[in-house]
Amino acid sequence: MAKLKTRLVTWDDVVSWSRGLAGKIRESSYRPDVVVAVARGGFVPARLICDFLLIDNLLSIQSQHWTEAAKAEDRAVIKFPYKIDLSGRKVLLVDDIVDTGESLALARNYIYNNWSAEEVRIAVLQWISPVAKFKPDYYFMEVKEWVWFQYPWTRLEDTYQLLKRLLKEEGKYKKEWSFEDLVNKFLEWYEIDVGKEYFKEAVDVLVRKGILKPEGGKYIVNFTGE
Ligand code: ADE
Repeated sequence: MAKLKTRLVTWDDVVSWSRGLAGKIRESSYRPDVVVAVARGGFVPARLICDFLLIDNLLSIQSQHWTEAAKAEDRAVIKFPYKIDLSGRKVLLVDDIVDTGESLALARNYIYNNWSAEEVRIAVLQWISPVAKFKPDYYFMEVKEWVWFQYPWTRLEDTYQLLKRLLKEEGKYKKEWSFEDLVNKFLEWYEIDVGKEYFKEAVDVLVRKGILKPEGGKYIVNFTGE
């Protein structure tokens, strides 16, 4: 059994899910004037939706709750608040996922209160219905059991953080690791294969952070500087 339920998402998945999501918006009567991407997870789906719906106007807002793979901070925040006038405009607010939904709910309220939009509707690729505080207006996929979606735009970030988490535990018992040992333990813990190139990059990140020390063709785990 994997230690964290994880699903690897490919670029092809993202394109086909975004196409499907755009289709649902087109079928409804909603005709957004502006797409707002929630940074950072909403960037790629928002851009694809602009393409599929032939929308020119694309803005962004950074509302953050999940700062590390599968670890939510206590509170969502708007990172760089700014004011614009969207009165009379219909907004489509796009993100990758509604998990707890806190960052999106905050962004929606912010846009109503500070940008004076006429209407704001929310569109996401995934909606994790058992944990979400609200149901998005449009979603491509309802997810009934919580899972961490390993999207392609966080491949390195997730891989190094998940590898670090594994080493924090397993490094108590085993200090010396070969590259293959690291790959195999990662596969055992998470049951996803991010590919050798990403895995190498992730190991390099942990080397730069001083958590892995290369020594005689192996890596020594070191959390003392943490
Ligand atoms: N961001 C917040 N929740 C997430 C999840 N379950 N998978 C991927 N990214 C997320």
